[in-house]
Amino acid sequence: MWVGLQADVAGIAPTLDRRQARERGIVFHLGLASRTDASRSIAVTDPVAAWHTEHAYFAQLLRLLRREIDVIHAGEDPNYELMVDILSYLHEYADRVHHPREDVAFARLARHCPDMKVVLGRLEQEHRVIETAGIELLSRIEAAVGGEVVPREKIEAAAATFLVYYESHLAREESEVLARAGKHLTPADWDAVRASVASIPDPVFGKDPQERFRALRRQIARES
Ligand SMILES: [Fe+2]
Ligand SMILES: [Fe+2]
Repeated sequence: MWVGLQADVAGIAPTLDRRQARERGIVFHLGLASRTDASRSIAVTDPVAAWHTEHAYFAQLLRLLRREIDVIHAGEDPNYELMVDILSYLHEYADRVHHPREDVAFARLARHCPDMKVVLGRLEQEHRVIETAGIELLSRIEAAVGGEVVPREKIEAAAATFLVYYESHLAREESEVLARAGKHLTPADWDAVRASVASIPDPVFGKDPQERFRALRRQIARES
């Protein structure tokens, strides 16, 4: 169980690395982890493990982003392209796939666990805050990349909002939601989660990552 914020988010570790997962035939995406067990010819699902793994990936990217913000704070030149890649990925995958699926999972979980309604409602609201803060930060960084004079403190302020919100959000989902979701959500609930958003491959951590994220993947590999 994780307590606290940044330090604990930084401690999120994938349950399996990508190579191990491929060897075991596991397909990642929230609510979509499935493994065909050839010896028994049945599909084994572990959506909570997949959910946790995505959080670990997001936390890793937030750490990379925070490091670039520290570079800005030190008055040096950050890797703006890396920051754009991270924020673009989080917008395209977390905002459009991971969070919408969580919204469905939260609604289902609230029906099973009425005591969690307030917590789940706040987390759902934070998805909108995170998206707005991410778009705001991305637009400021893209302006800086495009040659506009953007005061460093403006980028730092937007980044602080985004990072604090996101890291706190991940930590609370991990500590307050995942275990109870694993306990209470039914196969029908997980089917609804899976069906709520059209499945798209993860463009960075998926089996066939997109070429445009090659530099980001190289940086992730260097950190591993
Ligand atoms: Fe979330
Ligand atoms: Fe999440």
